[in-house]
Amino acid sequence: MILVLLGPPGAGKGTQAKLLAAEYGIPHISTGDMFRDHKARGTELGKKVQAIMDSGGLVTDDITNEMVRDRLGRDDVAKGFILDGYPRTTAQAEFLEQLLARAGRKIDRALSYEVPVEMVVERISGRRSCPKCGAVYHVSQNPPKQTGYCDRDGAGLVQRDDDKPENVKKRMEEYAAKTAPLKAFYAGRGLVSDVEGVGTPEGILAATKTVLGPR
Ligand code: AP5
Repeated sequence: MILVLLGPPGAGKGTQAKLLAAEYGIPHISTGDMFRDHKARGTELGKKVQAIMDSGGLVTDDITNEMVRDRLGRDDVAKGFILDGYPRTTAQAEFLEQLLARAGRKIDRALSYEVPVEMVVERISGRRSCPKCGAVYHVSQNPPKQTGYCDRDGAGLVQRDDDKPENVKKRMEEYAAKTAPLKAFYAGRGLVSDVEGVGTPEGILAATKTVLGPR
């Protein structure tokens, strides 16, 4: 099963992708997480994308597509995978379609998480992440047991640089201009299903499973 998760920044794509990956036993592939990992390790790629990401812009299609091509070359994608944050432009969507076609594969479903804009801004401003294991919390909606510290490994939680208010506006503009049109791209291929993205993460997972049907 190959799934693409669509929706604005803060819609809950990463939260749902983790739950779906556990549910179906297939990897969660987040280009945002991959870039953040490069940044944290200080790789050449990480240095190249740092300023773009922190300001809320999009990394170039060439860099992103190349990273995804490498990732999809690994064995663990054989049963399927969940793409979160990719594709993000029409050029990326076309690249992915061709990459999959060459492997005799295709996307099963593009899930579009529908969340009002005021709510995504609230979710983004309250998000805190663990720099060690990547776990994601929300200060009020999904708080850790001990304020400010990761439940899994006790590391101090941090706010992403691109979640600071001055950068959120740019991300929303980038989303509206470059990523929102992907819904029409996939609708044209009969692949889009809307999922109401308001409610508890478990409730939204249940709605997603209903859309996907028995597996
Ligand atoms: P990326 O990491 O992909 O960020 P994003 O798309 O902006 O998405 P977010 O991570 O902000 O939100 P999400 O929808 O995953 O929500 P989450 O589950 O965390 O990309 C970051 C940057 O990397 C980009 O700006 C760009 O620079 C670069 N990049 C990445 N991919 C790229 C690409 N393909 N091309 C070019 N550049 C690329 O939830 C948000 C918050 O809400 C959390 O606090 C969570 O706990 C909370 N929450 C989640 N669900 C619920 C719920 N049901 N109820 C209450 N709270 C909830």
